[in-house]
Amino acid sequence: MSTEKNRLNHIAIIMDGNGRWAKRRGLPRSAGHKKGAETVKDIAKAVNERGIRFLTLYAFSTENWQRPAEEVKTLMDLLRQYLKYDLEEMRKNNIRIRFIGERDMLDQDIAESMAQLESKTAGNLGMTLVLAISYGARQEIVAAAKKIAALVKKGDMSESDIDLKLFSDMLYTRDIPDPDILIRTSGEQRISNYLLWQAAYAEMFFTETLWPDFSAEELDKVIEKFYSRERRYGKI
Ligand code: IPE
Ligand code: IPE
Ligand code: MG
Repeated sequence: MSTEKNRLNHIAIIMDGNGRWAKRRGLPRSAGHKKGAETVKDIAKAVNERGIRFLTLYAFSTENWQRPAEEVKTLMDLLRQYLKYDLEEMRKNNIRIRFIGERDMLDQDIAESMAQLESKTAGNLGMTLVLAISYGARQEIVAAAKKIAALVKKGDMSESDIDLKLFSDMLYTRDIPDPDILIRTSGEQRISNYLLWQAAYAEMFFTETLWPDFSAEELDKVIEKFYSRERRYGKI
């Protein structure tokens, strides 16, 4: 048994339950998304203050494009605001910002703001905040397979070069360590096409708390439990 303290470099979160939070209050779903965006700020601040190097948040999945157009519009408008004000604020706090997901699906102005924020914050030495937007893990894996196939076809690589490291390097998360903790809020216990490759050995935590109510205190409880878990990676 290992007595060494688990190392915590990366927390990934499936931020779920905004709609139910609003419904319980008799409010439109958009109110839940607005409150959820506030929680993003609080939790990003808390993770940064705790000296954890990476935080990845699932904000919008490839499957979420299938929601009613009105809801998609609300979410995209919120994202626009977020890119303009809140992420600017994070930039000042030395946070590095990254986006993972299918950018071609996004409106051009959003994709441009994302690229700008990434380049403006690339040299920041604080926490890296990774936002998964228009993200689907299966799509990410298929895209990686296509990149590899193209390289092999061109003769830039041979089949024998393909290994775990090379495959990882073809994913959106190429230079980001695997998550140590994966949290899902709102009581659902599924992965919903999130970080399927990267979360192979993540410690999972499920809470009934809806995302707009998730707090730094609850995060600390998760972290405490994480340190008491034994990660075996298949060994004994
Ligand atoms: C999570 O909250 C945010 C997104 C998926 C964009 P939901 O909108 O899924 O909220 P519920 O699950 O309907 O309560
Ligand atoms: C997962 O939540 C996606 C995000 C949190 C962005 P969903 O609410 O879309 O997932 P399902 O539909 O319950 O699996
Ligand atoms: Mg949901």
